[in-house]
Amino acid sequence: MTEAHGSSAVGLSKAASGGGTATGTALLDVQGLSASYGPVRALDGVSLRAEAGRITAVLGANGAGKTTLLRTISGLVRPTAGRVVLDGQDITRAPVEAMVHKGMAHVPEGRGVIAELTVDENLRVGSLFRGKVGREEFDRVYDLFPRIAERRDNPAHTLSGGERQMLVIGRALLARPRVLLLDEPSLGLAPKIVAQIFGLVRQLVDSEGLSVLLVEQNARSALSVADTGVVLNLGRVVVTDDARTLAADEDLRHAYLGF
Ligand SMILES: Nc1ncnc2c1ncn2[C@@H]1O[C@H](COP(=O)(O)OP(=O)(O)OP(=O)(O)O)[C@@H](O)[C@H]1O
Ligand SMILES: [Mg+2]
Repeated sequence: MTEAHGSSAVGLSKAASGGGTATGTALLDVQGLSASYGPVRALDGVSLRAEAGRITAVLGANGAGKTTLLRTISGLVRPTAGRVVLDGQDITRAPVEAMVHKGMAHVPEGRGVIAELTVDENLRVGSLFRGKVGREEFDRVYDLFPRIAERRDNPAHTLSGGERQMLVIGRALLARPRVLLLDEPSLGLAPKIVAQIFGLVRQLVDSEGLSVLLVEQNARSALSVADTGVVLNLGRVVVTDDARTLAADEDLRHAYLGF
């Protein structure tokens, strides 16, 4: 594993080997993933493991490679090196559609919904890309997000940012994923709403054994809800550790996490 890139700027106490040496079976195992946009190398040998029933936060500044990591895991960007293994199965070259069937759901940055359609219509349109979705799956999403249930007949453009985020998470949950990739769900939301959404995600993870890869620039909030944190800088893993340990590391926080 070459994911350790201790910075000279901070004295990282841990060898940054992260979960790389763990022997347990990770639900999602990302091994030495690299990806480029033309000459721009956005990911450089990234390794991480995400367990069932755990939230793994991927943190880092603007341009660190967080979004590219999720896009590469979910098959939207082709890696130049490395592997993505889901539940023991190599899915690195699987087409995007197949990912859904294999249990992967990706909620991209930006909370994309169809503004003119109602909440319910957005869920239904979203379900079309997710194979066979039974009625009980819609009910389950509405149970999880009562706010969304109350607004099911309202056009999506009338939703607040937080409600919209709940809608896109709910839409991703329709196919009952085992791994949920969340890209910057907190962006632009008030702290109270962020806490509410993260609380819901935590509940879901605890009750259903879902594995969540939570990408965030908002490291403080993400670490408060996550089990493990992975810090990315310029496409490389700087350190992987227990979320609490990372949050307590003042040098690391100042150097990479902005709080
Ligand atoms: N479509 C693209 N074409 C060319 N370069 C890109 C593209 N998308 C991202 N990049 C570059 O790849 C690097 C990683 O970007 P990425 O969007 O993955 O970072 P990020 O950590 O998600 O940043 P942010 O916090 O701003 O969302 C950056 O240098 C970025 O400029
Ligand atoms: Mg991003």
